[in-house]
Amino acid sequence: MKSLVLFASGKGSNAQAIIDYFNQTKQAKVNLVVCNNAEAGVLDIARLHNIPFLIVNKTTIEEPLMITQIMDYEPSLIVLAGFLLKMPLSLLQAFPDKTINIHPALLPKYGGKGMYGNKVHQAVKANNEKETGITIHFVNEHYDEGAQIVQVRCALTANETVENIAQKVAKLEHAFYPKTIEYLLSIQ
Ligand code: GAR
Repeated sequence: MKSLVLFASGKGSNAQAIIDYFNQTKQAKVNLVVCNNAEAGVLDIARLHNIPFLIVNKTTIEEPLMITQIMDYEPSLIVLAGFLLKMPLSLLQAFPDKTINIHPALLPKYGGKGMYGNKVHQAVKANNEKETGITIHFVNEHYDEGAQIVQVRCALTANETVENIAQKVAKLEHAFYPKTIEYLLSIQ
């Protein structure tokens, strides 16, 4: 069974979708959750599924110990699901071409530092966009700039609220992130 290490900072709905999906298929297993917020909902999900977790901060994420701790889990992929700290270059270099991220918009629009969660959807609404979606991409040292793997779009009507947009995007994320991980694992 392939091993996944998941990085997340928030409520963990993508983490949940990924855990559920691979509980069914048995192709992979989330073996470690890395989080920078001790209060994050994703830690309750990790506890519920008996998945060990590491709490990191801006400093500890840069330490060599971090790399060895992750290496212990021999990840086939490192999956970012709403992780808000920048990934250090040392970590990316230790796992070349193995770190992926999901962004709740059609990059390169609405990406970059500070663009996460509802901030993205607010900007999409403010610009009266006719469509939005998700982008799954490899991670490099710049926020939201690594090579794209897949984009999935959805239409928006004029009277869509930020909450509606967030719901539409979350639905796409939960449907397509696990399947994209499955595909990437299958071609390794
Ligand atoms: C997701 O919508 C994800 O795309 C976004 O954070 C949310 C996490 O939700 N990531 C970013 O905005 C990265 N720039 P979750 O904790 O419920 O999975």
